[in-house]
Amino acid sequence: MPEESKFLAVGIDLGTTYSCIAYVDSYGKPVVVKNCEGGSTTPSVVQLSHDPNEIVVGTVAKGEKANLPGELIVEFVKRSMGKENWKHMVDGREYRAEEISAYILKKMVKDAAEQIGPITQAVITCPAYFGINEREATAQAGTLAGLQGYILDAATGIRKCNIIPEPTAAAFYYGLAKARDNETVMVYDLGGGTFDVTLLEVTKEAVNALCIGGDHELGGKDWDDLMANYVLDCARESGIDSEAVYSDSMALGDLMLRVEEAKKILTAKEKATVNFTFGKLARVEISRQKFDELTAPKLDRTILLCRDMLKEAAGLGYTAFDRILLVGGSTRMPQVRRRLEAEFPGIPIEFNEPDEAVAKGAALFAQKLMVDEQVQREIDTIFQRTGRSAEAGKSLEEVKEANPEVVREAMKNTAARFSLPTQQVEMIAGREVGDITSKSFGIQAYNAQDRLTVANLIRKNAKLPASVTQSFFTRADSQASAELTIMESKLLDEEIELVQAQEISKAVLPLPSGLPAGSPIEITFDLDRSGLLKFRGCEITSNNLIEGEIQTTAKISEAEATMALQRVNAANVS
Ligand SMILES: Nc1ncnc2c1ncn2[C@@H]1O[C@H](COP(=O)(O)OP(=O)(O)OP(=O)(O)O)[C@@H](O)[C@H]1O
Ligand SMILES: [Mg+2]
Repeated sequence: MPEESKFLAVGIDLGTTYSCIAYVDSYGKPVVVKNCEGGSTTPSVVQLSHDPNEIVVGTVAKGEKANLPGELIVEFVKRSMGKENWKHMVDGREYRAEEISAYILKKMVKDAAEQIGPITQAVITCPAYFGINEREATAQAGTLAGLQGYILDAATGIRKCNIIPEPTAAAFYYGLAKARDNETVMVYDLGGGTFDVTLLEVTKEAVNALCIGGDHELGGKDWDDLMANYVLDCARESGIDSEAVYSDSMALGDLMLRVEEAKKILTAKEKATVNFTFGKLARVEISRQKFDELTAPKLDRTILLCRDMLKEAAGLGYTAFDRILLVGGSTRMPQVRRRLEAEFPGIPIEFNEPDEAVAKGAALFAQKLMVDEQVQREIDTIFQRTGRSAEAGKSLEEVKEANPEVVREAMKNTAARFSLPTQQVEMIAGREVGDITSKSFGIQAYNAQDRLTVANLIRKNAKLPASVTQSFFTRADSQASAELTIMESKLLDEEIELVQAQEISKAVLPLPSGLPAGSPIEITFDLDRSGLLKFRGCEITSNNLIEGEIQTTAKISEAEATMALQRVNAANVS
């Protein structure tokens, strides 16, 4: 194998309907690697079989929707990532979403490795809207597929797959490719299963997310469903029993394949025909105008979500944006651009590689992580070699200020080690990629009107890492303990109703005896860059302390993970 294969920077866009893998070539350019069927993207469809070792992924599996019983075909699994109760059963075997996703990753990596050499590390993308559970589930899918990430966690000695939000990845790619300075960009990402709308600041030095909006359950699939309903309504006139089609997974699978094809044709042409047989043949012609009419409620919803996000952003002080960046295969539909032009007149719209930009951005991000780690190592080595070991450990920023020649040498050495142009290392090293939280975190507390509500400490759209300390007070004299009920929500207000949030953890802080009512308890929430939440509660006079970490509730159990790993390792994935 070529030596440089050890240093591959790989990004994988693990999509709801299609996935894409890219790496950064020796010139520093991100390149999409085609699968062995010749496609730049691979359908995220997994065909299971009665033999647990035989798994088919991609185009072939998708085609089998029309021929195999529904239990053997799994698609849209991304919508179930991190969901505790989701399981797919075949012959008594339970498959979790993490394992199904691992098969998709394994196929992508296997096909790519045949062309670019062994792949052991990758950055995987997820929707900006994913919370802790879903991000953790995505990283776990990577682990099950035998992949590691690029950052060594000193505490565990593990390099867990790095996760980057899809809009950030797309903006990172866009920022590096266009290098316009200081733009605020609205990324409108309409994929197959999710709609994300994100406001980001893109500068020469950084990509920072500012505000997040969207809907987990809105994507091209919903356009397909509406068109399928229409086709079945028309087919009824040809004598087809449309109710029976809905309960026949193969017939429905066949129809969905035809509908998606017709939808794509309507992107290029004014008319398309769906030929569908279910006992009898139906030929349903549909015009683009009719398709646009049928799907208008879905498009309207994306615009509403853009408006909601922009309103939130305005509340944070971001009142204008310079450009719209279209991401996701569904933005190819002419209705999307037309509508955005009407809603946001005068704002330029960038439409560039909508189904590859995320994977390419993830690959560049992988390279950034690799380069940053190596540059830091080189800086420390130079300091040690030149008898300045006391200065080792300083950050790149600090060294840039005080010893620019050290940084120059470190970058040159890094470029040599990774066989990259020095210019590429200089461009990418130290670039900031700022993430924000897509959820708010708070605790249950009595408000000024003595009503139990949720007081949000870390609020949605806060920059990561975030740390907030706030004082609360005991309610009664000699209260034996204080209960901390930690809540997660999508709302960014300081105070929200209990029903608007979900309980994610509970802890009890014992209190010293004889404590008067109104004694302060300090609560601290720390949310790290990966979205892991740590909390601390402290009663000031006694220094009684309670600390904890919010474990992801939906994480698959150790036993399930071991079983899944065995199966993924043993499986022949083609
Ligand atoms: N030419 C086209 N016209 C209309 N729709 C298209 C076209 N090409 C692809 N699509 C649709 O785009 C969607 C796939 O886009 P993409 O690959 O960006 O989504 P994804 O990454 O699977 O989903 P998500 O990002 O939501 O997880 C599918 O619904 C597909 O039918
Ligand atoms: Mg996508």
